[in-house]
Amino acid sequence: KSIVHGLWKGSLSMGMLSPRLQRAMKDYLNNNKHGVAYRGHRKAKQSRQQVLCELKKREKIRTLDGAEMPFSKLGWQKIVPALPLSQIHRPGLKTCAVVTSAGAMLHSGLGKEIDSHDAVLRFNTAPTVGYERDVGNKTTIRIINSQILANPMHRFNRSSLYKNVTLVAWDPAPYTLNLHKWYSNPDYNLFTPYMEYRMRFPSQPFYILHPKYIWQLWDVIQANNLENIQPNPPSSGFIGILLMMSLCEEVHVYEYIPSLRQTDLCHYHERYYDAACTLGAYHPLLYEKMLIQRMNIGSEDELKRKGKVTLPGFNKVHC
Ligand code: C5P
Repeated sequence: KSIVHGLWKGSLSMGMLSPRLQRAMKDYLNNNKHGVAYRGHRKAKQSRQQVLCELKKREKIRTLDGAEMPFSKLGWQKIVPALPLSQIHRPGLKTCAVVTSAGAMLHSGLGKEIDSHDAVLRFNTAPTVGYERDVGNKTTIRIINSQILANPMHRFNRSSLYKNVTLVAWDPAPYTLNLHKWYSNPDYNLFTPYMEYRMRFPSQPFYILHPKYIWQLWDVIQANNLENIQPNPPSSGFIGILLMMSLCEEVHVYEYIPSLRQTDLCHYHERYYDAACTLGAYHPLLYEKMLIQRMNIGSEDELKRKGKVTLPGFNKVHC
């Protein structure tokens, strides 16, 4: 419970995590699978405005456009959507919802509020059917990790979860942004399924995030910490929040910072319990969450009751 309190107040350190989670974090630091070599500055605690401006500098959404090798050679310029992701939801979305998959969404009764937003972002396999009262039923954008595309268990080609929405996929590339290495050795092979899906459903907007976008977000999280954070990409949740801050005037995030309903139930749609889902092991979740908490312009009451953080869109941030 002291951890959730720390998240609400924005003061937390790794030492407050359970020994198991601390060990997992250290293992990831020693492993450094993605070859992270951070060369930027580090600051202990920047103000809301400073954090917003740091993120705004790196705000421009980048997706694979097929212009770089090896993708250019493989004809990807004709495979990716003609319209950039930043353009398809024009003219501007006023308010947007980011719905995390946290177990604490259960019994929230937030469905109506979530659906009242102009656009709703969801993650991976998170369903709405059967959970409408708590999570709503509108989905505008779905962010999916490469496992969804690569693992046949998810029936990516056939499941209705992935139809009639804008899809945004990602996979961790090397920190050096060597696209050749990434293409020949992704975490999970998303490239072939992506091509196949694009050919089958050419009119559905479907993008792959550029690794540069992902690692730039990671850099900002590290820049705000004196301790070394896990050298792994931010969670889909963090990526999705930042994406929506580029597309919307105001972003409402649900159960990223846990409410009073906080639980070790990993996802609202699965019976699996693990505190790592909320506090992080692979992803630098704890640090992501402190950064998001610092940018909150909503009330503490909404944070505790709804698990809701309100953030300004980048076009409302003046640096
Ligand atoms: O597990 P998955 O990545 O599909 O969940 C989507 C996002 O929701 C996560 O990346 C994370 O940011 C957030 N989440 C959370 N707490 C949980 C489960 C998910 O903050 N218990």
